[in-house]
Amino acid sequence: MTYDAVARFPAYRGRRLRQSPALRRLVAETRLTADQFVLPLFVRSGRKVRHPIGSMPGVCQLSPDELLTEATTAHAAGIPAVLLFGIPDRKDEKASGAYATKGVVQQAIRLLKRELPDLLVITDVCLCEYMSHGHCGIVHAHSRGARILNDPTLKLLARAAVSHAEAGADIVAPSDMMDGRVGAIRTALDAAGFTETPIMSYAAKFASAFYGPFREAAESAPKFGDRRSYQMDAANADEALREVASDIQEGADIVMVKPALAYLDLVYRVKTTFGYPTAAYAVSGEFSMIKAAAEKGWLDERAVMTEALLAIRRAGADILITYAAVEMARWLKGS
Ligand code: PBG
Repeated sequence: MTYDAVARFPAYRGRRLRQSPALRRLVAETRLTADQFVLPLFVRSGRKVRHPIGSMPGVCQLSPDELLTEATTAHAAGIPAVLLFGIPDRKDEKASGAYATKGVVQQAIRLLKRELPDLLVITDVCLCEYMSHGHCGIVHAHSRGARILNDPTLKLLARAAVSHAEAGADIVAPSDMMDGRVGAIRTALDAAGFTETPIMSYAAKFASAFYGPFREAAESAPKFGDRRSYQMDAANADEALREVASDIQEGADIVMVKPALAYLDLVYRVKTTFGYPTAAYAVSGEFSMIKAAAEKGWLDERAVMTEALLAIRRAGADILITYAAVEMARWLKGS
């Protein structure tokens, strides 16, 4: 709406439309519904394992059987999709676990697709959880430190994505931020016959301190250095649009902004600039901040969680990736 349009109605009386909950619902411009939610889940080997993440209340690393229980609950609450992260038993310097046919994520995908065929399984495609050094790519050590090798990493990412598709993944989601990875993954998927498997790219992914709790959850904190050479600088928005544009050119079907709450300008600009299906990832730190304040009795958890997710939707996100998906879905049903 332009300023002119607003100025023509100087005596707008908003009160008329705010008199009751039903009236407010009728004129609401943005809504939250469970079918916009994606629930991230962490899978590790074993049976009956529910290993709680201290910094993410209510979130656990799960063995495949427990993962199935959690996914069943989410599905029953109306959530259409889960996003899988794997914690392998062993890590090495070529991230073997990321593309092993019997890797923990690959097994989990098969189980979920067998037991819950209607639930969409999205897989995070990255190497950091599987690398002994915790970086998202192959590391080359040299006299003045270490460097991430972009191009050799692409092959491994493509192998990981194909192994997920072979196991039955519905969507692959590369989160590594190497240059050219969407194109490399698209080519590899097509060559393996998975021409219909969509790519949801973490297109505008910032080097963010809000990922702190996740690194405990996924055991993926880098052992040295940080991720600033491949993830984006919080100061840059135009550059983020360039990253999104190149992912779309390389074949991304859905683009993601991450984190969400501190980057709402980008959610808005990505949606309005490209008009692509846009996902926003309300990351671990965003979740844990609200949980921690609620535990102290400082914030109303349900109200703040609702307001935060509504803001992300209002900014333009079609898809909300949130650790609070199940509780939100239940709240929405109850209200
Ligand atoms: C892997 C990855 C990360 C997250 C999603 N995929 C961590 C990182 O980049 O360090 C963060 C998710 C969250 O904080 O909830 N590269």
